[in-house]
Amino acid sequence: MLAEPRIQPLRPTLQALQQVHRIEQASFAEPWTVAEFDFLAADERSVQVGLWHQDELVGYAMGLLDGPDCHLINLAVEAPYRRRGWGRRLVHSLASVATDRGGRRCHLEVRTSNEAARRLYCGLGFHQMGIRLRYYTKPSEDACIMESSLPLTAGEDIDRS
Ligand SMILES: CC(C)(COP(=O)(O)OP(=O)(O)OC[C@H]1O[C@@H](n2cnc3c(N)ncnc32)[C@H](O)[C@@H]1OP(=O)(O)O)[C@@H](O)C(=O)NCCC(=O)NCCS
Repeated sequence: MLAEPRIQPLRPTLQALQQVHRIEQASFAEPWTVAEFDFLAADERSVQVGLWHQDELVGYAMGLLDGPDCHLINLAVEAPYRRRGWGRRLVHSLASVATDRGGRRCHLEVRTSNEAARRLYCGLGFHQMGIRLRYYTKPSEDACIMESSLPLTAGEDIDRS
Protein backbone atom coordinates (compact mmCIF):
# COMPACT_ATOMS: atom_id res chain seq x y z
CA MET A 1 0.00 0.00 0.00
CA LEU A 2 1.30 3.49 -0.83
CA ALA A 3 2.17 5.70 2.14
CA GLU A 4 0.14 8.87 2.69
CA PRO A 5 1.84 12.22 1.96
CA ARG A 6 3.31 13.82 5.08
CA ILE A 7 4.43 17.29 6.19
CA GLN A 8 7.84 17.69 7.79
CA PRO A 9 10.42 20.44 8.30
CA LEU A 10 12.19 21.10 5.00
CA ARG A 11 15.95 20.69 5.23
CA PRO A 12 17.33 22.87 2.43
CA THR A 13 19.63 20.40 0.66
CA LEU A 14 20.41 21.11 -2.99
CA GLN A 15 18.17 18.18 -4.00
CA ALA A 16 15.25 19.52 -1.92
CA LEU A 17 15.66 23.05 -3.32
CA GLN A 18 15.74 21.68 -6.87
CA GLN A 19 12.45 19.91 -6.15
CA VAL A 20 11.04 23.16 -4.72
CA HIS A 21 12.14 24.94 -7.90
CA ARG A 22 10.47 22.29 -10.10
CA ILE A 23 7.11 22.87 -8.35
CA GLU A 24 7.68 26.63 -8.36
CA GLN A 25 8.21 26.65 -12.14
CA ALA A 26 4.96 24.76 -12.69
CA SER A 27 3.03 27.06 -10.31
CA PHE A 28 4.12 30.66 -10.94
CA ALA A 29 4.64 33.02 -13.88
CA GLU A 30 7.75 34.41 -12.17
CA PRO A 31 9.35 31.41 -10.44
CA TRP A 32 12.14 31.91 -7.94
CA THR A 33 15.50 30.42 -8.93
CA VAL A 34 17.29 27.71 -6.94
CA ALA A 35 19.83 30.39 -5.92
CA GLU A 36 17.05 32.60 -4.52
CA PHE A 37 15.62 29.70 -2.52
CA ASP A 38 19.12 28.85 -1.31
CA PHE A 39 19.65 32.47 -0.21
CA LEU A 40 16.35 32.47 1.72
CA ALA A 41 16.98 29.07 3.31
CA ALA A 42 20.47 30.13 4.42
CA ASP A 43 18.99 32.98 6.44
CA GLU A 44 18.73 31.87 10.08
CA ARG A 45 15.33 33.63 10.25
CA SER A 46 13.87 31.39 7.54
CA VAL A 47 11.11 28.89 8.30
CA GLN A 48 10.22 26.12 5.85
CA VAL A 49 8.08 23.03 5.73
CA GLY A 50 7.66 20.47 2.96
CA LEU A 51 5.05 17.97 1.84
CA TRP A 52 6.51 14.61 0.84
CA HIS A 53 4.96 11.66 -0.92
CA GLN A 54 7.27 8.66 -0.83
CA ASP A 55 10.66 10.41 -1.19
CA GLU A 56 9.42 13.16 -3.47
CA LEU A 57 8.70 16.73 -2.42
CA VAL A 58 5.23 17.67 -3.69
CA GLY A 59 4.60 20.95 -1.84
CA TYR A 60 6.26 23.57 0.34
CA ALA A 61 5.72 26.70 2.41
CA MET A 62 8.58 29.09 3.15
CA GLY A 63 8.73 32.21 5.24
CA LEU A 64 10.95 34.59 7.16
CA LEU A 65 10.54 35.26 10.86
CA ASP A 66 11.66 38.72 11.94
CA GLY A 67 11.01 39.05 15.69
CA PRO A 68 7.25 38.63 16.14
CA ASP A 69 6.55 39.04 12.40
CA CYS A 70 6.41 36.07 10.08
CA HIS A 71 6.29 36.81 6.35
CA LEU A 72 4.89 33.90 4.37
CA ILE A 73 6.87 34.18 1.15
CA ASN A 74 6.28 31.03 -0.94
CA LEU A 75 3.53 28.42 -0.96
CA ALA A 76 2.75 25.82 -3.61
CA VAL A 77 1.33 22.33 -3.89
CA GLU A 78 2.00 20.21 -6.98
CA ALA A 79 -1.13 20.07 -9.16
CA PRO A 80 -2.13 16.40 -8.60
CA TYR A 81 -2.10 16.96 -4.82
CA ARG A 82 -4.29 20.08 -4.76
CA ARG A 83 -7.79 20.31 -3.24
CA ARG A 84 -6.97 17.72 -0.58
CA GLY A 85 -6.25 20.08 2.30
CA TRP A 86 -2.44 20.02 1.96
CA GLY A 87 -2.07 23.74 1.21
CA ARG A 88 -4.02 24.59 4.35
CA ARG A 89 -1.94 22.14 6.40
CA LEU A 90 1.33 23.53 5.00
CA VAL A 91 0.42 27.10 6.02
CA HIS A 92 -0.73 25.93 9.42
CA SER A 93 2.46 23.93 9.93
CA LEU A 94 4.68 26.85 8.97
CA ALA A 95 2.66 29.10 11.31
CA SER A 96 3.07 26.58 14.15
CA VAL A 97 6.84 26.53 13.73
CA ALA A 98 6.90 30.35 13.58
CA THR A 99 4.73 30.55 16.71
CA ASP A 100 7.09 28.19 18.56
CA ARG A 101 9.95 30.51 17.58
CA GLY A 102 8.22 33.62 18.92
CA GLY A 103 6.08 34.69 15.95
CA ARG A 104 2.96 36.64 16.91
CA ARG A 105 1.73 37.78 13.47
CA CYS A 106 1.88 36.35 9.97
CA HIS A 107 1.50 38.42 6.82
CA LEU A 108 1.68 37.75 3.09
CA GLU A 109 0.94 39.11 -0.37
CA VAL A 110 -1.31 37.34 -2.85
CA ARG A 111 -2.45 38.23 -6.38
CA THR A 112 -5.92 39.73 -6.29
CA SER A 113 -7.00 37.19 -8.96
CA ASN A 114 -5.74 34.17 -6.96
CA GLU A 115 -9.11 33.07 -5.60
CA ALA A 116 -7.83 29.66 -4.49
CA ALA A 117 -5.08 31.08 -2.30
CA ARG A 118 -7.21 33.95 -0.96
CA ARG A 119 -9.92 31.50 0.12
CA LEU A 120 -7.33 29.28 1.73
CA TYR A 121 -5.91 32.17 3.75
CA CYS A 122 -9.37 33.48 4.72
CA GLY A 123 -10.26 30.00 5.97
CA LEU A 124 -7.22 30.09 8.23
CA GLY A 125 -8.22 33.43 9.75
CA PHE A 126 -6.22 35.86 7.60
CA HIS A 127 -7.80 39.28 6.93
CA GLN A 128 -7.13 41.68 4.09
CA MET A 129 -5.13 44.65 5.41
CA GLY A 130 -4.67 46.59 2.16
CA ILE A 131 -3.69 46.54 -1.49
CA ARG A 132 -0.20 46.95 -2.94
CA LEU A 133 -0.66 48.47 -6.39
CA ARG A 134 1.01 46.69 -9.35
CA TYR A 135 3.10 44.56 -6.98
CA TYR A 136 3.31 41.72 -9.50
CA THR A 137 4.48 41.54 -13.12
CA LYS A 138 3.83 38.95 -15.87
CA PRO A 139 1.00 40.00 -15.80
CA SER A 140 0.99 43.26 -13.89
CA GLU A 141 -1.41 42.93 -10.97
CA ASP A 142 -2.13 44.30 -7.52
CA ALA A 143 -1.41 42.31 -4.38
CA CYS A 144 -3.76 41.86 -1.44
CA ILE A 145 -1.86 42.21 1.80
CA MET A 146 -3.23 39.73 4.31
CA GLU A 147 -2.43 39.23 7.97
CA SER A 148 -3.35 36.98 10.88
CA SER A 149 -2.31 36.81 14.49
CA LEU A 150 -0.43 33.69 15.60
CA PRO A 151 -1.19 31.00 16.52
CA LEU A 152 -3.65 30.44 13.68
CA THR A 153 -7.19 29.57 14.70
CA ALA A 154 -7.74 26.68 12.24
CA GLY A 155 -5.81 24.00 10.34
CA GLU A 156 -3.67 21.02 11.23
CA ASP A 157 -0.37 20.69 13.01
CA ILE A 158 2.98 19.43 11.73
CA ASP A 159 4.22 15.86 12.11
CA ARG A 160 7.42 16.45 14.12
CA SER A 161 8.48 12.80 14.15
C1 LIG B 1 -3.05 27.85 -3.54
C2 LIG B 1 -2.66 26.39 -3.35
C3 LIG B 1 -1.37 26.32 -2.54
C4 LIG B 1 -3.78 25.67 -2.59
O1 LIG B 1 -3.33 24.38 -2.27
P1 LIG B 1 -4.38 23.18 -2.03
O2 LIG B 1 -3.63 22.06 -1.43
O3 LIG B 1 -5.13 22.91 -3.28
O4 LIG B 1 -5.37 23.85 -0.97
P2 LIG B 1 -6.35 23.10 0.04
O5 LIG B 1 -6.81 21.81 -0.56
O6 LIG B 1 -5.69 23.03 1.36
O7 LIG B 1 -7.58 24.09 0.08
C5 LIG B 1 -7.86 24.88 1.22
C6 LIG B 1 -8.97 25.85 0.85
O8 LIG B 1 -8.50 26.77 -0.13
C7 LIG B 1 -9.55 27.06 -1.05
N1 LIG B 1 -9.21 26.58 -2.38
C8 LIG B 1 -8.13 25.83 -2.71
N2 LIG B 1 -8.09 25.63 -4.05
C9 LIG B 1 -9.19 26.24 -4.55
C10 LIG B 1 -9.70 26.40 -5.86
N3 LIG B 1 -9.09 25.86 -6.92
N4 LIG B 1 -10.82 27.12 -6.02
C11 LIG B 1 -11.46 27.67 -4.97
N5 LIG B 1 -11.03 27.56 -3.69
C12 LIG B 1 -9.90 26.85 -3.49
C13 LIG B 1 -10.79 26.37 -0.53
O9 LIG B 1 -11.44 27.26 0.35
C14 LIG B 1 -10.17 25.21 0.23
O10 LIG B 1 -10.99 24.71 1.25
P3 LIG B 1 -12.09 23.56 0.90
O11 LIG B 1 -11.38 22.52 0.12
O12 LIG B 1 -12.54 23.12 2.25
O13 LIG B 1 -13.14 24.25 0.08
C15 LIG B 1 -2.47 25.66 -4.72
O14 LIG B 1 -3.62 25.90 -5.51
C16 LIG B 1 -1.25 26.12 -5.48
O15 LIG B 1 -0.15 25.59 -5.29
N6 LIG B 1 -1.43 27.12 -6.37
C17 LIG B 1 -0.33 27.66 -7.18
C18 LIG B 1 0.64 28.46 -6.33
C19 LIG B 1 -0.06 29.57 -5.56
O16 LIG B 1 -0.94 30.26 -6.06
N7 LIG B 1 0.42 29.78 -4.32
C20 LIG B 1 -0.10 30.83 -3.44
C21 LIG B 1 0.68 32.07 -3.65
S1 LIG B 1 0.12 33.38 -2.55
